Amino acid sequence: MSSIISFLFFISAVAAFTHPGALHTTEDFARINTHVANGDKPWNTTWGLLTASSYAQSSYQPKPQKTVYRGYNGVDAENYQHLFEDAAAAYQLAVRWKISNDTVYAEASINILSSWAATLTAISGTSDKFLASGLYGYQMANAAELMRDYSKWDNSNKTATATMLTNVFASMNTLFLENHNGQNDYHYYANWDQCNLASLMAIGIFTDNQTMYDYAVRYMLTGPSNGALPVFAIANYTEDGSGKLLTQGQEAGRDQGHATLDIMLLGVIAQQAYNQGNDLFSTYGNEILNAAEYVSKYNVGYDVPYTAYDSYQGNQTVISNNSRGDIRPGFELLSAHYGQLNGLNSSWTDTYRDFINTKSTDGVEGGGGNYGSTSGGFDGLGFG
Ligand SMILES: *[C@@H]1O[C@H](CO)[C@@H](O)[C@H](O)[C@H]1NC(C)=O
Ligand SMILES: *[C@@H]1O[C@H](CO)[C@@H](O)[C@H](O)[C@H]1NC(C)=O
Ligand SMILES: *[C@@H]1O[C@H](CO)[C@@H](O)[C@H](O)[C@H]1NC(C)=O
Ligand SMILES: *[C@@H]1O[C@H](CO)[C@@H](O)[C@H](O)[C@H]1NC(C)=O
Ligand SMILES: *[C@@H]1O[C@H](CO)[C@@H](O)[C@H](O)[C@H]1NC(C)=O
Ligand SMILES: *[C@@H]1O[C@H](CO)[C@@H](O)[C@H](O)[C@H]1NC(C)=O
Ligand SMILES: *[C@@H]1O[C@H](CO)[C@@H](O)[C@H](O)[C@H]1NC(C)=O
Ligand SMILES: *[C@@H]1O[C@H](CO)[C@@H](O)[C@H](O)[C@H]1NC(C)=O
Repeated sequence: MSSIISFLFFISAVAAFTHPGALHTTEDFARINTHVANGDKPWNTTWGLLTASSYAQSSYQPKPQKTVYRGYNGVDAENYQHLFEDAAAAYQLAVRWKISNDTVYAEASINILSSWAATLTAISGTSDKFLASGLYGYQMANAAELMRDYSKWDNSNKTATATMLTNVFASMNTLFLENHNGQNDYHYYANWDQCNLASLMAIGIFTDNQTMYDYAVRYMLTGPSNGALPVFAIANYTEDGSGKLLTQGQEAGRDQGHATLDIMLLGVIAQQAYNQGNDLFSTYGNEILNAAEYVSKYNVGYDVPYTAYDSYQGNQTVISNNSRGDIRPGFELLSAHYGQLNGLNSSWTDTYRDFINTKSTDGVEGGGGNYGSTSGGFDGLGFG
């Protein structure tokens, strides 16, 4: 019996995952490479933005920390900026390698990953440490997944990276999703669950951990708390004229910075799952599109209906106009999947994406470093 179980485990561990298969696949790079080689817009414009980024240079030097602190706990100075900058750099350098084939970028990317793996033992601070475990976990795991097939990545350093992701990041991701820092399931806003789910999923893919990956997918579909799809959707509205469904997300009454962050994270989660054969984009009647349309319409300046939401901070009786028109990368992915690939009406998401791109960059989506120097500008990997 046990040999049958271990045989089945072996099959699933070996055969289950597509690599690279978090945010990007081999086919994605084949398509991008052709467009870049031809100088096609917008691909080659984005390539120009990436190659100009200070985080995509082969001279980039990481600043690994033994303990990362996010949230000032009264004793330890915050140092998480080093982690979000290095995660952005590891990702941008990995992408630059995949498109240019120049191994100086591969070496710079694995140097970041391996040096963190050799140094980092814990993430601490205030409760905000669980934002760090989620946001930088999914980003580091995505960089590692792109570097996975680089033949000169020393095996022990690759394994050390997997061990760091599992022991430091994934263990905190699971802890948060299971007990929400000691609070009830409705306490933390959706983005806390969602960044930790994105991380667990990406780490599961990189480390070939089916249990970890399946847990994250199941949680998205049926989880008990605010980030999970059924709980995240507060109300549906049918839009006059188009008949389109608009879905109010869980953070609409809080502020638009977080309401848009949720949508970016849902895009990451759905894309990672899609690349492994699980279509979360289409579940619950394209809920993620409907929620993206709602947020996008409001953030490009149109009114949307709203239903009072009883948050842990009290009754939010109107939609919040705080940070309305927020600028962040991540909506390119949603427009591409729903609009371009599936022919669905993603007009508000497209409009919001254009608003972000034309307002901030060269008409294309940038990434870490193109949206300010504080953490919010690094929440999304960008360059969609
Ligand atoms: C693509 O963009 C790069 C970087 O901006 C530029 O140097 C190059 O000339 C462009 N390629 C073509 C074919 O236009
Ligand atoms: C990099 O390699 C890929 C796959 O072999 C190829 O399609 C692509 O054109 C190459 N790119 C450059 C810039 O040489
Ligand atoms: C492993 O990573 C460390 C830290 O970046 C580096 O100093 C070391 O040279 C790497 N080992 C090998 C064999 O590449
Ligand atoms: C795989 O993930 C599960 C669930 O998170 C965890 O308990 C287990 O230790 C992981 N396996 C390995 C080999 O890291
Ligand atoms: C919104 O609509 C979707 C798709 O029809 C449905 O799955 C979901 O339960 C609805 N949510 C609410 C809050 O009405
Ligand atoms: C929240 O406010 C709305 C609008 O004033 C009201 O209808 C609703 O009953 C309130 N909900 C709670 C839980 O107090
Ligand atoms: C923003 O919302 C507040 C509170 O609902 C409201 O008083 C204010 O008029 C709104 N401002 C704008 C510019 O819509
Ligand atoms: C898409 O939806 C928008 C409103 O959300 C509407 O104005 C537009 O006509 C629709 N496009 C198509 C092709 O149906």
